[in-house]
Amino acid sequence: MTNKIIFGDAQNMKELEDSSIHLVVTSPPYFNAPFDYPDLFESYEQFLNVMKNVANEIKRVLAKGRIAAFVCDDTLINGEKYPVVADIIKIFTEQGFKYRERITWVKPEGYIRISRRSGVLIQHPYPMYYYPDNLQESILIFQNGDFDYKSISQRKKQLSKIDIKQYQREKWFLNVWYITNVLPINNRLEKGIAAFPEEIPRRLIKLFSFKGETVLDPFLGSGTTLKVANELGRNGIGYEIDAELLKVIKEKLGINQTKLVKTPSYEIIMRDDKKYLRTTLQNRVKNNNKSR
Ligand SMILES: C[S@@+](CC[C@H](N)C(=O)[O-])C[C@H]1O[C@@H](n2cnc3c(N)ncnc32)[C@H](O)[C@@H]1O
Repeated sequence: MTNKIIFGDAQNMKELEDSSIHLVVTSPPYFNAPFDYPDLFESYEQFLNVMKNVANEIKRVLAKGRIAAFVCDDTLINGEKYPVVADIIKIFTEQGFKYRERITWVKPEGYIRISRRSGVLIQHPYPMYYYPDNLQESILIFQNGDFDYKSISQRKKQLSKIDIKQYQREKWFLNVWYITNVLPINNRLEKGIAAFPEEIPRRLIKLFSFKGETVLDPFLGSGTTLKVANELGRNGIGYEIDAELLKVIKEKLGINQTKLVKTPSYEIIMRDDKKYLRTTLQNRVKNNNKSR
């Protein structure tokens, strides 16, 4: 079985052999972001420690020369920004990864869900009241040493060829990507998960992996990376600590659904270190909103 979903802590990826993964695409939990993960971590240091341990495991399982792409942003809590992006770059370079690129993902104006702080200046049109709304996140691209371009057969290259017309039309060649985020519609499958839009893993998987290879998402959430990986002819492996997401992931990946289209099969492993988080987190978000 090549597709796997493991419910457990990604600080330990014992199910995976060394150098067995060809690409990592992920977005870590947004520290203790009030709208998604209030008080998930005891402290910022604990969050960074989890990131360090996961980076260490990624270094072990990722094949030589391959890419780990991290979608992340600084987190704003009680008016203070935590420098998540800078710290993740530091953690990965200390693990021996090359910091290859930073792409800025820009979301459309009007759909932002979290910080609408810019109105403060309208109420107080004076210096010192400037708090801009945040429309961007970073897609950090780390590389595990040099890639041997000759190790890939001509046939595999042809099968994985990138559509240059699309590359130019959609301006993938820029380090700024304009992509609509998952919209905050009530009752959407990804409610409370901070999912990224499919277009992000779609571009990254096409740009940094070949058909038939294996993509890993250590923070699987609703399963977006695996869905896209399979659509693009790649195998997918995901870790997710919250066993309450099983239903959402199954639905997104079409597991157990009687469908006319054939869906790939997944091995699902339930480890002892899994947790049950979502209900508690969502209740905390509700209570925080009430007390605003
Ligand atoms: C930002 S979400 C990922 C969303 C995903 N990209 C999607 O499109 O649905 C981060 C996920 O990491 C999970 N998580 C947090 N700590 C973890 C850990 N130590 N190991 C595995 N998963 C973890 C959270 O429960 C959450 O679902």
